[in-house]
Amino acid sequence: MYISSHKMGYVVTTLALLGHLQKVIAGSFQCQGTCYRGSWFPNSEKVIPDKQMVGFSYKNITTYDQNVCYANCIQDCRCNACQMKDGVCELLDYDRTFKPAFFHSGPGYVYMDLDQQSYQGTSNMVKPGDCYNGCCRSQPCMNGGTCVERCHSPLEKFTCECQNRYTGRVCEKRITECFDIRKLPLQRLSDEGWCVRVVGL
Ligand SMILES: *[C@@H]1O[C@H](CO)[C@@H](O)[C@H](O)[C@H]1NC(C)=O
Repeated sequence: MYISSHKMGYVVTTLALLGHLQKVIAGSFQCQGTCYRGSWFPNSEKVIPDKQMVGFSYKNITTYDQNVCYANCIQDCRCNACQMKDGVCELLDYDRTFKPAFFHSGPGYVYMDLDQQSYQGTSNMVKPGDCYNGCCRSQPCMNGGTCVERCHSPLEKFTCECQNRYTGRVCEKRITECFDIRKLPLQRLSDEGWCVRVVGL
Protein backbone atom coordinates (compact mmCIF):
# COMPACT_ATOMS: atom_id res chain seq x y z
CA MET A 1 0.00 0.00 0.00
CA TYR A 2 2.75 2.37 0.94
CA ILE A 3 4.74 1.46 -2.21
CA SER A 4 1.86 1.94 -4.60
CA SER A 5 0.92 5.34 -3.24
CA HIS A 6 4.57 6.28 -3.38
CA LYS A 7 4.67 5.17 -7.01
CA MET A 8 1.51 7.12 -7.70
CA GLY A 9 3.12 10.21 -6.25
CA TYR A 10 6.11 9.63 -8.46
CA VAL A 11 3.91 9.31 -11.55
CA VAL A 12 2.03 12.51 -10.70
CA THR A 13 5.29 14.37 -10.11
CA THR A 14 6.69 13.08 -13.39
CA LEU A 15 3.57 14.16 -15.29
CA ALA A 16 3.67 17.59 -13.69
CA LEU A 17 7.33 17.90 -14.58
CA LEU A 18 6.67 16.86 -18.19
CA GLY A 19 3.88 19.43 -18.43
CA HIS A 20 6.22 22.06 -17.11
CA LEU A 21 8.96 21.04 -19.54
CA GLN A 22 6.56 21.26 -22.46
CA LYS A 23 5.72 24.83 -21.50
CA VAL A 24 9.39 25.67 -21.14
CA ILE A 25 10.17 24.17 -24.55
CA ALA A 26 7.22 25.96 -26.20
CA GLY A 27 8.09 29.22 -24.46
CA SER A 28 11.75 29.01 -25.34
CA PHE A 29 11.11 28.98 -29.11
CA GLN A 30 12.38 32.32 -30.18
CA CYS A 31 11.99 33.43 -33.74
CA GLN A 32 15.30 34.45 -35.27
CA GLY A 33 14.93 36.65 -38.33
CA THR A 34 11.83 35.83 -40.37
CA CYS A 35 9.46 33.07 -39.26
CA TYR A 36 6.12 31.81 -40.56
CA ARG A 37 2.85 31.09 -38.84
CA GLY A 38 -0.45 29.67 -39.93
CA SER A 39 -2.89 26.92 -39.14
CA TRP A 40 -1.67 23.32 -39.08
CA PHE A 41 -4.81 22.41 -41.00
CA PRO A 42 -5.85 23.66 -44.42
CA ASN A 43 -8.22 26.63 -44.24
CA SER A 44 -11.50 25.53 -45.88
CA GLU A 45 -11.55 28.67 -48.07
CA LYS A 46 -8.21 27.60 -49.54
CA VAL A 47 -9.24 24.02 -50.30
CA ILE A 48 -10.47 23.76 -53.88
CA PRO A 49 -12.01 20.54 -55.14
CA ASP A 50 -11.65 19.27 -58.72
CA LYS A 51 -8.75 21.56 -59.58
CA GLN A 52 -5.04 20.87 -60.03
CA MET A 53 -1.77 22.57 -60.84
CA VAL A 54 -0.16 20.79 -63.76
CA GLY A 55 3.59 20.27 -63.96
CA PHE A 56 4.94 21.52 -60.63
CA SER A 57 4.88 18.56 -58.29
CA TYR A 58 8.35 17.97 -56.85
CA LYS A 59 7.55 15.37 -54.21
CA ASN A 60 4.79 12.82 -53.74
CA ILE A 61 3.68 11.46 -50.39
CA THR A 62 1.34 8.55 -49.93
CA THR A 63 -1.63 9.58 -47.75
CA TYR A 64 -5.40 9.88 -47.89
CA ASP A 65 -5.42 12.52 -45.17
CA GLN A 66 -5.65 16.17 -46.28
CA ASN A 67 -4.25 17.34 -42.96
CA VAL A 68 -1.16 15.16 -43.34
CA CYS A 69 -0.65 16.42 -46.88
CA TYR A 70 -0.97 20.05 -45.78
CA ALA A 71 1.30 19.54 -42.75
CA ASN A 72 4.02 18.19 -45.04
CA CYS A 73 3.71 21.32 -47.17
CA ILE A 74 3.98 23.70 -44.20
CA GLN A 75 7.13 22.02 -43.00
CA ASP A 76 8.95 22.27 -46.32
CA CYS A 77 10.39 25.66 -47.32
CA ARG A 78 10.04 24.68 -50.97
CA CYS A 79 6.31 23.93 -50.84
CA ASN A 80 3.87 26.65 -51.95
CA ALA A 81 0.72 24.57 -52.41
CA CYS A 82 -0.30 20.92 -52.44
CA GLN A 83 -2.89 18.71 -54.03
CA MET A 84 -4.25 15.22 -53.54
CA LYS A 85 -5.82 12.48 -55.57
CA ASP A 86 -6.23 8.74 -54.99
CA GLY A 87 -4.01 8.63 -51.90
CA VAL A 88 -1.15 10.63 -53.42
CA CYS A 89 -0.28 14.02 -51.97
CA GLU A 90 1.76 16.17 -54.35
CA LEU A 91 3.86 19.02 -52.97
CA LEU A 92 4.03 21.88 -55.47
CA ASP A 93 6.69 24.44 -56.36
CA TYR A 94 4.17 27.11 -57.36
CA ASP A 95 0.64 27.99 -56.37
CA ARG A 96 -2.33 28.97 -58.54
CA THR A 97 -1.75 32.72 -58.11
CA PHE A 98 1.88 32.51 -59.20
CA LYS A 99 1.24 30.34 -62.27
CA PRO A 100 -2.47 30.76 -63.09
CA ALA A 101 -2.08 29.35 -66.61
CA PHE A 102 -1.24 25.95 -65.13
CA PHE A 103 -4.26 25.76 -62.84
CA HIS A 104 -6.66 23.41 -64.57
CA SER A 105 -9.74 21.39 -63.91
CA GLY A 106 -8.77 18.10 -62.27
CA PRO A 107 -11.65 15.76 -61.49
CA GLY A 108 -10.95 13.90 -58.26
CA TYR A 109 -8.21 16.31 -57.18
CA VAL A 110 -8.31 18.50 -54.11
CA TYR A 111 -6.01 21.50 -54.36
CA MET A 112 -4.83 23.41 -51.26
CA ASP A 113 -3.14 26.81 -51.06
CA LEU A 114 -0.46 27.32 -48.47
CA ASP A 115 -1.86 29.86 -46.03
CA GLN A 116 0.94 31.41 -43.98
CA GLN A 117 1.97 34.79 -42.69
CA SER A 118 5.50 35.84 -41.98
CA TYR A 119 6.63 37.71 -38.91
CA GLN A 120 9.88 39.09 -37.61
CA GLY A 121 11.64 37.81 -34.54
CA THR A 122 12.81 40.28 -31.95
CA SER A 123 16.20 38.62 -31.44
CA ASN A 124 19.17 40.85 -32.07
CA MET A 125 21.16 37.97 -33.59
CA VAL A 126 19.87 38.97 -37.02
CA LYS A 127 20.53 42.54 -38.10
CA PRO A 128 17.40 44.55 -39.00
CA GLY A 129 16.93 44.45 -42.75
CA ASP A 130 18.87 41.22 -43.20
CA CYS A 131 16.92 38.25 -44.46
CA TYR A 132 17.27 35.08 -42.44
CA ASN A 133 14.63 32.34 -42.39
CA GLY A 134 16.74 29.19 -42.18
CA CYS A 135 15.50 27.82 -45.50
CA CYS A 136 18.99 27.43 -46.98
CA ARG A 137 20.20 25.34 -44.04
CA SER A 138 19.09 22.10 -45.68
CA GLN A 139 20.95 23.08 -48.89
CA PRO A 140 17.99 22.70 -51.23
CA CYS A 141 19.80 23.83 -54.40
CA MET A 142 21.20 21.00 -56.50
CA ASN A 143 24.16 20.66 -58.86
CA GLY A 144 26.27 23.29 -57.14
CA GLY A 145 23.57 25.97 -57.11
CA THR A 146 23.74 28.73 -54.49
CA CYS A 147 20.79 29.13 -52.14
CA VAL A 148 19.58 32.64 -51.28
CA GLU A 149 17.01 33.09 -48.53
CA ARG A 150 14.09 35.40 -49.36
CA CYS A 151 11.93 37.10 -46.76
CA HIS A 152 9.42 39.20 -48.71
CA SER A 153 6.73 36.51 -49.08
CA PRO A 154 5.86 33.12 -47.55
CA LEU A 155 5.47 31.91 -51.14
CA GLU A 156 9.14 32.41 -51.94
CA LYS A 157 11.31 31.46 -48.99
CA PHE A 158 14.46 30.88 -51.03
CA THR A 159 15.74 30.99 -54.57
CA CYS A 160 18.62 29.13 -56.21
CA GLU A 161 21.30 30.68 -58.36
CA CYS A 162 22.23 27.84 -60.67
CA GLN A 163 25.57 26.95 -62.15
CA ASN A 164 25.93 27.16 -65.92
CA ARG A 165 23.88 24.57 -67.74
CA TYR A 166 21.45 24.03 -64.89
CA THR A 167 18.05 25.53 -64.39
CA GLY A 168 14.78 24.85 -62.54
CA ARG A 169 13.47 25.83 -59.13
CA VAL A 170 16.36 24.04 -57.38
CA CYS A 171 18.73 23.70 -60.37
CA GLU A 172 17.47 20.17 -60.89
CA LYS A 173 17.30 20.40 -64.68
CA ARG A 174 20.30 20.15 -66.92
CA ILE A 175 20.13 22.34 -70.00
CA THR A 176 20.72 20.07 -72.93
CA GLU A 177 19.17 21.92 -75.80
CA CYS A 178 19.75 25.32 -77.29
CA PHE A 179 16.02 25.80 -77.27
CA ASP A 180 16.16 25.93 -73.46
CA ILE A 181 19.01 28.44 -73.48
CA ARG A 182 16.91 30.88 -75.46
CA LYS A 183 14.25 30.92 -72.77
CA LEU A 184 16.70 31.93 -70.07
CA PRO A 185 17.36 35.52 -68.97
CA LEU A 186 19.75 37.36 -71.29
CA GLN A 187 22.77 37.59 -69.01
CA ARG A 188 23.04 33.85 -69.05
CA LEU A 189 23.36 33.57 -72.81
CA SER A 190 26.94 34.77 -72.85
CA ASP A 191 27.94 32.00 -70.41
CA GLU A 192 27.20 29.36 -72.98
CA GLY A 193 29.30 30.13 -76.04
CA TRP A 194 28.88 26.72 -77.55
CA CYS A 195 25.14 26.97 -77.65
CA VAL A 196 24.87 30.66 -78.46
CA ARG A 197 26.80 29.99 -81.66
CA VAL A 198 24.53 27.15 -82.65
CA VAL A 199 21.35 29.15 -82.36
CA GLY A 200 23.01 32.14 -84.03
CA LEU A 201 22.36 34.69 -81.29
C1 LIG B 1 3.50 12.76 -58.44
O1 LIG B 1 2.35 12.07 -58.88
C2 LIG B 1 1.71 12.66 -60.01
C3 LIG B 1 0.42 11.92 -60.26
O2 LIG B 1 0.59 10.54 -60.17
C4 LIG B 1 2.67 12.63 -61.19
O3 LIG B 1 2.07 13.24 -62.31
C5 LIG B 1 3.92 13.40 -60.81
O4 LIG B 1 4.87 13.34 -61.85
C6 LIG B 1 4.54 12.85 -59.53
N1 LIG B 1 5.62 13.72 -59.12
C7 LIG B 1 6.80 13.27 -58.71
C8 LIG B 1 7.78 14.28 -58.27
O5 LIG B 1 7.09 12.09 -58.69
